[in-house]
Amino acid sequence: MLHASLLPLANDRVRLRPLRAEDATAYAEGAEDPTVRRYAHLPEPHYTPATARAMIEGAARDGLERGDLAVLAIADPADDSFLGSLVIFDVTEDSAEAGFWLRPDARGAGRSAAALDLAIDLVRRSGLSGLTARTVTDNTASQRVLEGAGFVETGRQASTAPSGQRIEAVHYERWLPRPTPALPLTTERLALRLHRAGDEDWLRRIYERPEVVHYLLDPPWTPQLAERRLSERLARTGLESDAGALALVVEHESSPIGDIALWLTDAAHGIAEIGWVLDPDHGGRGYALEAVRRVLDLSIDHCGVHRVTAQMDARHGASARLAERAGMRHEAHLRQDWWSKGEWTDTLVYGLLADDVHPRR
Ligand SMILES: CC(C)(COP(=O)(O)OP(=O)(O)OC[C@H]1O[C@@H](n2cnc3c(N)ncnc32)[C@H](O)[C@@H]1OP(=O)(O)O)[C@@H](O)C(=O)NCCC(=O)NCCS
Repeated sequence: MLHASLLPLANDRVRLRPLRAEDATAYAEGAEDPTVRRYAHLPEPHYTPATARAMIEGAARDGLERGDLAVLAIADPADDSFLGSLVIFDVTEDSAEAGFWLRPDARGAGRSAAALDLAIDLVRRSGLSGLTARTVTDNTASQRVLEGAGFVETGRQASTAPSGQRIEAVHYERWLPRPTPALPLTTERLALRLHRAGDEDWLRRIYERPEVVHYLLDPPWTPQLAERRLSERLARTGLESDAGALALVVEHESSPIGDIALWLTDAAHGIAEIGWVLDPDHGGRGYALEAVRRVLDLSIDHCGVHRVTAQMDARHGASARLAERAGMRHEAHLRQDWWSKGEWTDTLVYGLLADDVHPRR
């Protein structure tokens, strides 16, 4: 279900808001444009100001109230005037489809891509995990817009448009992470919270130890590097955030003992990577395993990630055992694929699929 209460949404290029009766004339004029008529496949073959108004006060308003259809205005953020329309339809528990068009004089300024970004935000924050779109093979502008917004082509086939017309469609899909739940996450003995100002001191105390960074890419942390790394982590508040990453501090009895991160390596398809570091003074008690299991559960059960990988220096046996105990499969041993700290090193790749956790019947 779409949460209409999240509207309006805006960025520097457009405002996405419910249609209003005053938009009827501009909607009807825009819908008459030959490119819109050819490509947008609107439910009605023609709109007049009166039929547009009836749609706005009827199907569009009812759909938003029910949460299963959103026929929205793409508006100018400066004066709120109508520039085009974006519709989200075929809303199921998990996904929805989007279509969009702009008035001819509003094109050429990246506005439909900006409107799609807002639609993605609306759909994601409504708890859906995918947005699809269809376009026809010769609609290059629409394909470029969709690809620019992170949609990936999933196939080409004949299908029926909202107009009822049969079209040869290129199908697109954009995977969307479900929003991060309330933090901290808890386990039997641990709490996993976001980073905050002041964390640089304890982080440096762990990451300045040569035995900790030995198998990592960083040199031992200086105070400056600790500050830089903390500021990067402060932005990693969820897979749905601009950073596409979640960086958590692992706490035991309210003291930080390590950190764990999950980041998208392929946002369009829902592929993520996980990484962890535990203070050696707290090793051997299963804390890292407890934290890793919790974050893997979060990524697959909650965020809806398709695959999580973990990559590590092949000499780091403790990390490899941890990945295995957490249920990840050993998928590859890459020989001398990384030049690290003056020598060639091997990399182990572990992977966990959503299908491993919840096999499809
Ligand atoms: C699709 C539409 C909303 C895009 O408008 P827009 O956001 O202003 O996009 P632009 O016109 O700036 O074009 C987007 C990209 O396509 C390219 N493009 C535009 N027209 C093109 C054409 N005829 N042939 C090839 N490329 C074209 C642009 O160069 C731009 O490329 P870039 O991203 O690499 O810079 C608009 O063309 C429209 O309303 N079309 C009619 C309805 C429609 O097709 N809706 C989509 C149905 S799924």
